[in-house]
Amino acid sequence: MSNDLKFRIPKVLPYLNRFGQHWRWNVQSVIAPKDALQQRVNGKVVILTGASSGIGAQVANELARAGATLALIARNQEKLDALAREIHDQGGKAYVYAGDLTDFEECDRLCKAIEHDHGRVDILINNAGRSIRRSIKFTYHRFHDYERTMQLNYLASIRMAMNVLPGMEARNEGHIINVSTVGVQANPARFSAYLGSKWALEGWTWVAANEFAHTRIRFSSLNYPLVRTPMIAPTKIYRYMPVMSVDTAVKWMLDVIITQNKRKLGIFGKGALAMYYLLPKTSESIVNFSYQAVYEQPPENYISSKVRNQTSANEEKSEHRVKAPGKKSQ
Ligand SMILES: NC(=O)c1ccc[n+]([C@@H]2O[C@H](COP(=O)([O-])OP(=O)(O)OC[C@H]3O[C@@H](n4cnc5c(N)ncnc54)[C@H](OP(=O)(O)O)[C@@H]3O)[C@@H](O)[C@H]2O)c1
Repeated sequence: MSNDLKFRIPKVLPYLNRFGQHWRWNVQSVIAPKDALQQRVNGKVVILTGASSGIGAQVANELARAGATLALIARNQEKLDALAREIHDQGGKAYVYAGDLTDFEECDRLCKAIEHDHGRVDILINNAGRSIRRSIKFTYHRFHDYERTMQLNYLASIRMAMNVLPGMEARNEGHIINVSTVGVQANPARFSAYLGSKWALEGWTWVAANEFAHTRIRFSSLNYPLVRTPMIAPTKIYRYMPVMSVDTAVKWMLDVIITQNKRKLGIFGKGALAMYYLLPKTSESIVNFSYQAVYEQPPENYISSKVRNQTSANEEKSEHRVKAPGKKSQ
């Protein structure tokens, strides 16, 4: 590879076009969202991962109603078949591509099959996700928590994007939506594994958006707050907290599809972000206070720091006894 420094003349006209389009679609999303959605997705091929449950399942119905051809991905074939049947019965187009996205060759196989069957992919929605809620001190022997979240939330999403981007580039058109969380702005305790993977996903999204800004390929991130789906069902405390309904979460997704805005973030996320940068230590204390206030059951094999200190103190003592001159070891 040559190390010569070479320059090119950047294209700037696409920025003007993008500016006009931005306002056109943002206004339309407010005054006529249904029509706008139809214009955006009618006849388009959409890959929707995580379609068997929660937000994904309901988004699938709405997109099919607006005329999209849907490629539904998740592991549970039965659930996807039932959803595709429901969509077909209502006159929509949905096709099942069941698979485990943590197997990257499976990602390639699914994308190839979809492009072969439908000719192209216009929109990729990386919605499949896995969340883990656990304190860092309880993960010392659970490195796989980090591997598992990265594998699905980050690496699988990128692998899917790598498969569809060449086609989008060739047609100079496409939209990739990566589903993230407001945790990226608020940094709640106990979500280190989950948030690390979503931060990584957002990092990739913003670099991609910058690199493709002179084309007609767009990248968006959705920073959802807690949404009442099976994902949060195992956590008891969320049953008593006000959380976003799936209906509203679906509206957020449809809005991003119409506007192609870079980010969808609610007022709580904006406040958390402002707090984090303006008053970082106060923000840390608030999160820590709520962390301490809620008890978390340690895993069975967990040895508390008190016991660990006690054990090492005892070990040190017995070592001293062994080494002390004139004393017999016990
Ligand atoms: N619910 C919330 O409070 C919340 C908040 C912020 C962000 N989010 C994000 O929103 C997105 C959707 O979550 P949700 O709340 O709708 O969760 P959900 O109901 O648990 O759905 C998760 C989806 O991901 C699929 N999935 C999981 N592992 C997979 C794998 N290895 N391969 C393929 N598909 C897999 C699941 O299908 P199978 O089990 O059939 O594979 C399911 O369809 C996620 O990215 C999540 O991180 C959720």
